[in-house]
Amino acid sequence: MKMRPNNLKTRIFLDGGNADETKEIVELLGFLDGQTTNPTLISKNPGARKRLESGEKFSPVEIYDFYRGVVKTLSGLMPRGSVSIEVYADAATKAGAMLKQGHEMFSWIPNAHIKFPTSREGLKAAAQAIQEGLRVNMTLCFSQEQAAAVHAATRGAKKGEVFVSPFIGRLDDRGENGMDVIANIIRMYRNGDGHVEVLTASVRNRDHFLYALKLGSDIITAPYDVLKAWGEQGMPVPGNDYHYDAELLKPIPYKELDLNSRWEDLDIRHELTEKGMERFSADWNALIKMEKRKIA
Ligand code: E4P
Repeated sequence: MKMRPNNLKTRIFLDGGNADETKEIVELLGFLDGQTTNPTLISKNPGARKRLESGEKFSPVEIYDFYRGVVKTLSGLMPRGSVSIEVYADAATKAGAMLKQGHEMFSWIPNAHIKFPTSREGLKAAAQAIQEGLRVNMTLCFSQEQAAAVHAATRGAKKGEVFVSPFIGRLDDRGENGMDVIANIIRMYRNGDGHVEVLTASVRNRDHFLYALKLGSDIITAPYDVLKAWGEQGMPVPGNDYHYDAELLKPIPYKELDLNSRWEDLDIRHELTEKGMERFSADWNALIKMEKRKIA
């Protein structure tokens, strides 16, 4: 029977919205520590695709029920894992509206982490969510400043209650070395109290995955193809001789930041966070008929 490799310290999540893939990966690896979903991934779920292809979109209530059904199935497959559920957030969505959705989604399953964007409103919502007993996963993080703000905004939370998801593939896509952000955040968090766990996200290939393991990321979420290939190769865990080749990607230098700053004082704006919110909300809205398309 397959088992987690003894030298694997990182928790492994699947990045996806299709429970059939989850079942396959659980069988292949012999374990899976959790799953991350997002509006784009839910829009690619085969059930959602089939319905859209038949020419029928979802009503706002139906799409919400559909998302709940998917995460309930995932939760059942990994009762001791974590399942991340993302709130709808476009440029106009206020913290209060995000928080309201977060509470509703958190009630769907016992092992939820609620994804809020690492924007001003998202951080406001997360700070409040932590006070109110929710677990959070701060998504669309692209900078060390944003990760410092997550640490500051969720101060007082216990380990396990807060993840931060730096997106490496989308930085690579525009010529910057996304893996530097992972290395920099892990280094910066050594000065912190350990309550925020780094969840390497937007993994596109085997080298992202292996280097995140070598860097000691607390968690990695990877798409089906990457996890499948890793499982088929016998789940290798890289040693000290592993070298990540960033090729021509532009390095992202480390910054000295004070984790005790107020999060409101940090420069957390990032163009890719805004673009990411636009894309997630557009993918979600494309699933819905009726004018009022939001899930809350
Ligand atoms: C996971 O939490 C993220 O939403 C996901 O990894 C984003 O990946 P992408 O940049 O490939 O869309």
